[in-house]
Amino acid sequence: MTRTAPLPPSLEVTGLAYAYPDGHQALFGVDLTVGRGERVALLGPNGAGKTTLVLHLNGILAAGAGSVTVAGLPVGKRHMAEIRRRVGIVFQDPDDQLFMPTVR
Ligand SMILES: Nc1ncnc2c1ncn2[C@@H]1O[C@H](COP(=O)(O)OP(=O)(O)O)[C@@H](O)[C@H]1O
Ligand SMILES: [Mg+2]
Repeated sequence: MTRTAPLPPSLEVTGLAYAYPDGHQALFGVDLTVGRGERVALLGPNGAGKTTLVLHLNGILAAGAGSVTVAGLPVGKRHMAEIRRRVGIVFQDPDDQLFMPTVR
């Protein structure tokens, strides 16, 4: 019988901390695992840190401490192209998504 290594989870966040440049500590000690095929709703009041967390999942923000891996790939410069192929983010304000005046 052949055995293959188990596939890594879709998302693994460990001990994530992030402070904005003004010193505001938005995340501290965040752990989250999302398994393959799992659907997760992230709930919390305004200012809880949902957007800050999500911006770490494809490297828009870089962790102050801790780590984020997507399908086993550490989010960082080395794997950025592949990470961004896998993790798309729709911004809350559609004006942030439209950065050119025409589709072309
Ligand atoms: N650019 C920023 N500079 C400083 N603090 C920020 C910035 N963006 C968000 N914050 C602060 O970080 C915390 C988390 O914000 P955010 O991740 O936007 O929360 P949510 O998406 O859950 O509403 C809040 O206290 C917010 O005021
Ligand atoms: Mg938000």
